[in-house]
Amino acid sequence: MTPSPDLTIHEFADSQALATALAGRVAEALRAGLDERGFALLAVSGGRTPLGFFERLSQATLDWSRVQVTLVDERWVDEPDPRSNARLVREHLLRHAAAAATFVPLYTGAASPEEGQAEASRRVHALPLPFDAVVLGMGLDGHTASFFPSGDQLEAALDPNLPSGALPMRAPDAGEPRITLTLPTLLQTRQLFLHIEGEDKRQVLAQARSGQGEGAHYPVRAVLERSPVSVAVYWCP
Ligand code: 6PG
Repeated sequence: MTPSPDLTIHEFADSQALATALAGRVAEALRAGLDERGFALLAVSGGRTPLGFFERLSQATLDWSRVQVTLVDERWVDEPDPRSNARLVREHLLRHAAAAATFVPLYTGAASPEEGQAEASRRVHALPLPFDAVVLGMGLDGHTASFFPSGDQLEAALDPNLPSGALPMRAPDAGEPRITLTLPTLLQTRQLFLHIEGEDKRQVLAQARSGQGEGAHYPVRAVLERSPVSVAVYWCP
């Protein structure tokens, strides 16, 4: 398959300018959802890149009390753990105006993601899909969400024929066991953003798009190939 040409790269001088622009676009998507449906649904990524974006989005003027926020993936750790994506979202996104939003965590407190999967999937199935916006990040190994190249459940997570929901994922480079929305779940979105920073990530994206060499094995390719909506890449050096 050839990656969809329907991809736009928005380039910014620095992280702050990018964060402001991306927060503006996501806030617009949420307002559109509120206008049309009376509620809005957002899925965000963890990691370090989204911090500035979260800070700006948290100050957007909209009716956050009718917005649900969840994660595209989670590291299976308790919330006080600095690696917890839920902690990151609570500390950086669910503040200011956005403190009124409802957060739907994927972490359940079960001993393992395998044991927590049923409950996490139940939470995902209870979401009023489609998402108004999904914001993905990407690692230098071409992973996005927790679709790691050597993930034990990678095939299942990308499989369009398996039931949607959340899946456990274990990979040598993942740091800890994870849980991730499946690809068919996160592609049920009205708008899809890929937020990457740094020249190295731009090269990884270029390789993924070309499908040459290592790029052929980058899981982010599956998003580029299968997204039913245009992928908006937000990038800065
Ligand atoms: C996670 C993610 C993951 C992340 C990338 C990029 O929980 O780790 O959701 O997919 O977006 O690993 O991470 P950085 O922003 O830290 O580079």
